[in-house]
Amino acid sequence: MTAQLINGKEISQQRLAAVAAAVEKRAAAGLHTPCLAVILVGDNPASAVYVRNKKLACQKSGIESLSYELPASTTQDELLKLVDELNSNPKVDGILVQLPLPEHIDSQVVLETILPHKDVDGFHPYNVGRLVVKMPLMRPCTPKGVMTLLESYGVDPKGKKAVVVGASNIVGRPQALELLLSRATVTVCHSATQNLAEEVAQADILVVGVGIPNFVKGEWIKPGAIVIDVGINRLADGSLCGDVEFDVAKERAGMITPVPGGVGPMTIATLLENTLHAAELHD
Ligand code: GUN
Repeated sequence: MTAQLINGKEISQQRLAAVAAAVEKRAAAGLHTPCLAVILVGDNPASAVYVRNKKLACQKSGIESLSYELPASTTQDELLKLVDELNSNPKVDGILVQLPLPEHIDSQVVLETILPHKDVDGFHPYNVGRLVVKMPLMRPCTPKGVMTLLESYGVDPKGKKAVVVGASNIVGRPQALELLLSRATVTVCHSATQNLAEEVAQADILVVGVGIPNFVKGEWIKPGAIVIDVGINRLADGSLCGDVEFDVAKERAGMITPVPGGVGPMTIATLLENTLHAAELHD
């Protein structure tokens, strides 16, 4: 059996179109144009691509974006000062600090400086806590985008066995919470997990976000499983691949996300949905 491909590009375009329509409707009603401030520190090439795509998506959907590209030598105090200014700027609805930050900056301190209702990444502990108690304000973009994909393809996690591979603050942990809130039975695997293959083989829904090319082997996957690959890895030949061994996995899975064109575009579409939501909170 060959799996159905989950087309994140198509779903993300539908979501961006919906954001654009909502932004137009706001303008017609005399409400302000949503505005996202994007901060990039240093010259990580992958981050530069992500930030460029985020700004392009803003343009396409009528959201205003302010761009701050700072040198790697920027001090933590300088960055905190910029975040403070953006916090108190009434024009700015959302603030995104692209991760990773240079090593001399404590990213947790920076993320906790962003006002929770401007925290469109949903990384502030206040927003993480609200997600835990099922009263979300801002939900992290990648896991929320994954839930949108599942919903768009008619997959209800309720009662299913979900396995999340990776326990990062950006993907794995909030993904596990999202699946739990949708009433899946959730297992989280990480670098200390024993018998990873056995855990993966239990999954009706498998979400993988570890950042290692082809880390999850296709033969581990339960026949018919829904496989969501969050990894975007650049190989030496310049091509992109995910964290799941796609060619083998697609012959066993029921549905699978490709890389590129799966989760990546959903992260960006969700960021713009969160920015629109932040603007609505500021009305
Ligand atoms: N780096 C990798 N993913 C993300 C993300 O979703 N948000 C931010 N701010 N940085 C990232």
